Amino acid sequence: MKNRQWVLASHPKQEVDATTWKLVEQDLPLLAAGQILVRVRWLSVDPYMRSKLNQGAMRIGDLMLGGGVGEVVQSNHAEWSVGDIAEGLELGWQEWAVLNPDIPGPARVNKLVAGPIAMQSALSWYGMPGLTAYFAMLEIAKPQPGDTVVVSAAAGAVGQIAGQIAKLAGARVVGIAGADMKLAWCKTLGFDDTINYRSEADLAGAVARVCPQGVNVFFDCTGGPVHDAVMANLALRSRVAIVGKVAVANKAAHEDLGLRASGKLIASRARVEGFVVYDWWHRREEGLRRLADWHATGALKFREDVAKGIGELPNAFLRMMRGENLGKQLVEL
Ligand SMILES: NC(=O)c1ccc[n+]([C@@H]2O[C@H](COP(=O)([O-])OP(=O)(O)OC[C@H]3O[C@@H](n4cnc5c(N)ncnc54)[C@H](OP(=O)(O)O)[C@@H]3O)[C@@H](O)[C@H]2O)c1
Repeated sequence: MKNRQWVLASHPKQEVDATTWKLVEQDLPLLAAGQILVRVRWLSVDPYMRSKLNQGAMRIGDLMLGGGVGEVVQSNHAEWSVGDIAEGLELGWQEWAVLNPDIPGPARVNKLVAGPIAMQSALSWYGMPGLTAYFAMLEIAKPQPGDTVVVSAAAGAVGQIAGQIAKLAGARVVGIAGADMKLAWCKTLGFDDTINYRSEADLAGAVARVCPQGVNVFFDCTGGPVHDAVMANLALRSRVAIVGKVAVANKAAHEDLGLRASGKLIASRARVEGFVVYDWWHRREEGLRRLADWHATGALKFREDVAKGIGELPNAFLRMMRGENLGKQLVEL
């Protein structure tokens, strides 16, 4: 049987474009003992994939790895049966995946239990992005009732959940995003205020206007100019969770440009902490349970942006990097 796969065609110098990948057709290998064959139904495109494209991370011809969900169609594993739904962070940009479910750690393949949660949610609010929002907000940023919390990339997969969790903690939440449609979605989710970073000439001034008492918690998904503008407005003893740097993902060599916040950090006695979701993987079940409870009661809403067909994977990744996605960017096969 043939399997269509997206593989790395070239290492991008800076900006990624569609020539970064090429679609190839491979024969499917026979299943070894302990393996399962999965027909991939949904794939995720995520900002972290940008750093995987660099020299030293992936070789030319390597399969593009990424989170996915699919249905088991053949099993040589005692605990997996045909019809089971498999979810994992390394299914890859392909139509069929031969997987070893027993791999430990974040690359482990998980079985989804049939129920009210849609299978693709395992790639968004009920998976890695949801867990990122949950642990970074509650364990690093720790919003208190009455705090002003600012979330960047607020309408994205992580941001929209992070903002809602801060609201559940009793905070006032301000979302920063790059399109008025996204700001409107944040308001629908209950965010108290929003800023469109693309239409503000003085971004630090806009943050000061919307956060007159300063920013107690900054949940930063972007880095770059948005980061600089919020850091200029930190309140006394504020907390900053550094979650992502999508704004500078294509400019790694120039990342260290912009307003330096050290003076502000000293004066505000702020705490800045980097975050990696896999450090919290041992508490994955707890996080998912909490997210599922909120979702079931309507306290957590979520929006997806779905492209269709394996041919759309590079475009879906590129539009997400350009900020054209509204909600979690997924591809349905
Ligand atoms: N540390 C961890 O363990 C961890 C885990 C998961 C995700 N992350 C990070 O969290 C961030 C959000 O990830 P996600 O999956 O939720 O993606 P996402 O927010 O759904 O999509 C990326 C968004 O980034 C924004 N963006 C792109 N270029 C930008 C720029 N130059 N300046 C400001 N914003 C820009 C765009 O929204 P706008 O229209 O608003 O610009 C775009 O929609 C990423 O940085 C990601 O790497 C970290």
